[in-house]
Amino acid sequence: MDPNTSGLVQRLAEAGQSHLLQFWKELGPEGQADLTLDLQGMDFQEINGFFNNAMKTSSSSKQEKMDARMEPVPREVLGSVTRDRECLKDWETEGLHCISQSKVAVLLLAGGQGTRLGVSYPKGMYDVGLPSHKTLFQIQAERILKLQQLAEQKHNTKCCIPWYIMTSGRTMGSTKDFFSRHNYFGLDKNNVIFFQQGMLPAMDYNGKIILESKGKLSMAPDGNGGLYRALGTQGIIDDMQRRELEFIHVYCVDNILVKVADPAFVGFCVQKGADCGAKVVEKTNPTEAVGVVCKVDGRYQVVEYSEITLATAEKRSADGRLMFNAGNVANHFFSFSFLRDIVQKHEPQLQHHVAQKKIPCVNAQGQLIKPDKPNGIKMEKFVFDIFQFAKTFVVYEVLREDEFSPLKNADTQDGKDTPTTARHALMSLHHRWVLNAGGHFIDENGRRVPAIPSLKDGTDLPIKCEISPLVSYGGEGLEELVKGRDFHPTLMIDEHGVHELVKNGV
Ligand code: UTP
Repeated sequence: MDPNTSGLVQRLAEAGQSHLLQFWKELGPEGQADLTLDLQGMDFQEINGFFNNAMKTSSSSKQEKMDARMEPVPREVLGSVTRDRECLKDWETEGLHCISQSKVAVLLLAGGQGTRLGVSYPKGMYDVGLPSHKTLFQIQAERILKLQQLAEQKHNTKCCIPWYIMTSGRTMGSTKDFFSRHNYFGLDKNNVIFFQQGMLPAMDYNGKIILESKGKLSMAPDGNGGLYRALGTQGIIDDMQRRELEFIHVYCVDNILVKVADPAFVGFCVQKGADCGAKVVEKTNPTEAVGVVCKVDGRYQVVEYSEITLATAEKRSADGRLMFNAGNVANHFFSFSFLRDIVQKHEPQLQHHVAQKKIPCVNAQGQLIKPDKPNGIKMEKFVFDIFQFAKTFVVYEVLREDEFSPLKNADTQDGKDTPTTARHALMSLHHRWVLNAGGHFIDENGRRVPAIPSLKDGTDLPIKCEISPLVSYGGEGLEELVKGRDFHPTLMIDEHGVHELVKNGV
C-alpha cells in the first residue's frame, strides 16, 4: 500500500512525524502493511498535544516542592483497622450486605508490562512458589469466590461480584487464554469481563515518536490511569450500569495479600458516604519511596517522595508517627456515579505524567541502539489522579503485613518486593491465622515453634503454611480445623482438608 494514497504521508508531515516512514522502502510488502495499519489507527495531533502538556506540567512541577501546600489526612476522614477496632465488625457487616445485593464489583489493573519482574507473560500468571503453586490470578479468583459464598450464606441469597480485568494490547490474548484454560477458576465466565487499556508511543525529548525497529513504533500502555479512558471506550461503564453496580473496588495485580472487595473497606466507605476512598499502609521510614495521600491546596492527592523535602518527609505528629504517613498502595474504592462522572466529564482534564526511560530504538542509519541513559519519555496517567474530583474522600489504614506485599522485582539476594518476599508474606499471614485460631506448629524434634521466629541464627524463614482462599477469606472459619492441634510444616489447608505435606522425620 502506498502511504501517499492513504493520506498518511500528509498527516505525518503535518504532525512533524514523517521520520516514521524513513525506512519504508526497506520494509517489504508485509512490513509496509503492518506499519500502515499501526499508523492509520493513530491520532498524531492528539499524541503531540499529550506530549506538549505532559512536558509543560513536568517541567513546572520540578521547580517547586510541594511542602508548603501540604496537609496530612484529617482524623475525621480516616478509618483504621488498629485505631478503630470497635467499628470493624460493623463495617464488615455493611460491606457484606452490599456484596450480597450484588452491588459491589472488583476491578483489576493488570495492563502493566512487568518489566522489572522480567517475565514474558502477564504478572497475574506468575507462580511465586507457594506449596500449592497457585498463580496471583488464581488466588484472587478464589478470594472472590469465597467472599461471594460468605455473603450468600450470611444473607441467604444468591449474589455475584463481577470481576473487571484491565489488560493492555500486549497482555490481553495471553490473559484471556489463561483464564479459559483454567475454567475461570470456578467463577462464572459471564462475570469475568476483560477489557483493554490504550497504548501510547514513546517519544524522544523533541516530541518525535521513537521507532523500536525499522517498521515498528515503540508503544507502551498509557499507565494504570488509562483505566478511565478505557472504561468509556470499551463500554465498561455501560456494563456496570446494566448490572446496577454501586461500588467498585480497584486494585493492582501484583499484591499477593490483596483483599479483593474487602467488605470492611467497602462498608467503611459506604457508611461514610464516600465517593472515593484510598486504602493506605503506614509509611514508617521517611525516605521510603512511596507516595503519600494528603491534601494539597485543600484537595486530596498522592504526593511522591521526590516532590517533597527531606525535612517534610521527616516531620512527626505528637503521637510520634510520621506526619505524612498515609502510604498509597493503589487500592481504591469508587462509587459508580463518581466513576461515571470521571469517565464522562473529567478524564480529558487529566494530564499524563512523564517517565524518563532508556528506550531501545533505531538510529537514522537503521541500527538498533540500546541506550545506557534515558533517551526519551513514556507518558502515563495514574489511577489516583482523580482524587482531586472527589466530594467525599476517605482514607482507610490497614496493616502492611496483613494486606500489602507487591511483586515487582525478580529474585535477588535480599531483594525487595520479589517472589520470595511475596511468598513469605502470604505464608507468614497464614501462620498467624492458624495461631489466632488456636493451632500450633512443631519442629522436627516435636517442640512447639515460638510464635515470634528467632532472628539470631539467620533462620528467620516463615513457617511453611498455606490456606486456600476457598477455605478462608480473611482468617475466619479456621478454629474447627486447627484449634488445639499441633502441625508439622508444610501445612496446607484447602477444600479437601488439612494436610501436612512433609512430615519431618517420617
Ligand atoms: P507498576 O507501575 O508497578 O508497573 O504497576 P508494572 O507493569 O507492574 O511493572 P514495571 O514497572 O513494568 O516493572 C502497578 C499496577 O498498575 C498496573 C500494573 O499491571 C500493576 O497492577 N498497570 C501499570 C496497568 O494496569 N497499566 C499500566 O499502563 C501500568
